Amino acid sequence: VPLQAHNSFGIVAKARELVRVRGDADVQALLADGEHAQTPKFVLGGGSNIVLTGDVKPLVLKVEIPGIRVVEDGPRATVIEAGAGVNWHDFVTWTLDHDFPGLENLALIPGSVGASPVQNVGAYGVEVQDRFESLDAIDLATGDVFTLGPAQCAFDYRDSVFKHTPAKPGDMGLCGRALILRVRFRLPKPWRPVLGYMDLARRRAESGVQDPTARQVYDWVCAIRASKLPDPRVLGNAGSFFKNPTVTPEQCHDIIAREPNIVHYPMPDGTVKLAAGWLIDACGWKGKSVGKAGVYEKQALVLVNRGGATGGEVVTLARAIQTSVYERFGIRLEPEPVVV
Ligand code: EPU
Repeated sequence: VPLQAHNSFGIVAKARELVRVRGDADVQALLADGEHAQTPKFVLGGGSNIVLTGDVKPLVLKVEIPGIRVVEDGPRATVIEAGAGVNWHDFVTWTLDHDFPGLENLALIPGSVGASPVQNVGAYGVEVQDRFESLDAIDLATGDVFTLGPAQCAFDYRDSVFKHTPAKPGDMGLCGRALILRVRFRLPKPWRPVLGYMDLARRRAESGVQDPTARQVYDWVCAIRASKLPDPRVLGNAGSFFKNPTVTPEQCHDIIAREPNIVHYPMPDGTVKLAAGWLIDACGWKGKSVGKAGVYEKQALVLVNRGGATGGEVVTLARAIQTSVYERFGIRLEPEPVVV
């Protein structure tokens, strides 16, 4: 089964076998069937956060669970549930069309609802964990359906329990072990816009709008993203390729002494986050390529497929970037997408 249309990088690769999952029963039926029960499985959502470096040998479960419903519309919050297969941006748009604001800062993020808690997607001052209520998932070994609240998801910056591999028995780690079926989001009332992120603050100042509506914020976010992030339908990519690294205040102090222009943000816990895009840009990578894999001209944190790139080329380019950032700044960049 060709996977090129199922990964936002647009890399050519095949799956030995692909099964579409439209509901809990599809997974349970698969686990009941002797041939498939024991085979290794790979859960594929929107495919917007993976780099395929070859054909996928495990059985691919393509999550296509539909549906959006309001679970609760109370005085303090609205809780909305969406199937894991719903396209994330379509979901955000649906909430605004139905007058449930709160997810507008997360507009236009590629991928599916089911993938959003896995890496705790975030943009412009809001992360999924800020709007998360709970999720239902299915254990791929037993077929048992279970529910997780926010604490059990162990959310962190672009991280959750779904990215953790248990180091020893008893550790909580669900990487490769569960398939997310549905996610519920809590949208607090009254709605308050989140406008602190610099790009948004600038848009607001330019527009002269004092009290923007959620729809206005949504439009600004869409415009900002369109101006600096490539549309995966036009130019294959997986969003930011590296996480923004955190350093201690002492390390940051040393770096600033050498590089006074470095873009950095103090975090609530006292550490300092550095803009990986700035580090990569400062090493001269913007617009460069290795084979058909390249560094996006308008945002150095985004690697792109210029047409016909292999996963190997993307990984080679990523390693070269890591090496030059390490040699110049002494900082190790950690990739964000999952290399398969
Ligand atoms: N910068 C440069 N050169 C570049 C790119 C960035 O100097 O080539 C500087 C910018 O001028 C800016 C700073 O770096 O001062 C930060 O850039 P930007 O505002 O574009 O955000 P980012 O830190 O690069 C993060 C997220 C994005 C998210 C935006 C907005 C990560 C890894 N990335 O990017 O998320 O949309 O903030 O909140 O945290 C993603 O995860 O895939 C993603 C796109």
